[in-house]
Amino acid sequence: MKNYKTDIFTGMRATSGMSIANLIGVVDPILCIMQDGSLGKPMIFVADLHSLTTEEPNKTQSYVLHVIKDYIAAGLDPEKVDLFVQSQIMDEVSKMTIYLSRLITVAELLRVPTLKEKIKKGNGEATANTLLAFYPVMMAADILLQGSRYVPVGKDQYVHLEVTNDLVKRFNKKYGDVFLAPKPLDSGEGINILSLTGSGKKMSKSEPNGAILLDDDIDVSLKKIKRAKSAFAGDMSEDLKSLKLIADYISTDEQRKEFESILQKHLDGEQVMGEFKDLLVEVLGRFLEEFQEKKVSISDDYVLGVLEKGREKAKANAGEVISEVEIAMGMRFV
Ligand code: TRP
Repeated sequence: MKNYKTDIFTGMRATSGMSIANLIGVVDPILCIMQDGSLGKPMIFVADLHSLTTEEPNKTQSYVLHVIKDYIAAGLDPEKVDLFVQSQIMDEVSKMTIYLSRLITVAELLRVPTLKEKIKKGNGEATANTLLAFYPVMMAADILLQGSRYVPVGKDQYVHLEVTNDLVKRFNKKYGDVFLAPKPLDSGEGINILSLTGSGKKMSKSEPNGAILLDDDIDVSLKKIKRAKSAFAGDMSEDLKSLKLIADYISTDEQRKEFESILQKHLDGEQVMGEFKDLLVEVLGRFLEEFQEKKVSISDDYVLGVLEKGREKAKANAGEVISEVEIAMGMRFV
């Protein structure tokens, strides 16, 4: 491969209900790249095959349209980004995963920290399914199939990019220079938004009390803000930083200034967290209302049309890469 095929490539698992942290950490960096326009058209996909590690197929499939609608409602313009679903190019993903799997040992896979953690969270190696162990290889397949140059992901995904880069080196050494190495693109601190419960964990739907879920009843979300852990007067705690990241994302310039001035008072030792939260509740309420209205206005047919266009492009890239790979490996007669 002489050139990258895709400047910006990233994906997200198919799960129910995106949280505001996903919006800020995953969608917003792509929006910025899209608006900046100096790099090529970003390509984004829903990793529904990755979701099969933990979910039943009928569930993952029911989430796919939701996730795409979330992206669009959050401002991604399907004219300016390509969107597709991993299972639309299942043949290519499967082939590439098998070819790459030859280049990594079982021991190496089990040492990947994210896997170790996931396996520990379950009941250990005896019950963790093998698809889970393939997670990093399949992710490398996704990235390499699209000839990706930059991959915006959270820091927690960097180890998977390291695996990808190792596989690139090993493949190229063995079969000649076929792959170009992808580079991570830090998707910003937004990805580190904490759970509102003060547990110190990342905001995630696995701890729903601490997560603002975009599809939830708005009142439920606002109550979570009211109850959220913040900070003692004068202290810029990690919890407060997270609330501020949320506030910054959903505010107009005017409102951002209001937040700034409240926080200044807070840092000067005044008791203003109530005021901060009242404003946050007001701004977030309006934001969620607009988001949900926009989301319901997006029809399934429209999304299916967008995905069909995305599939064509993803399939064309993947097909070219697979044939180069197979020729290099000697899987095909030239
Ligand atoms: N592992 C990513 C996550 O859990 C999702 C993902 C799968 C991905 N394949 C990818 C991200 C390829 C970027 C590129 O969020």
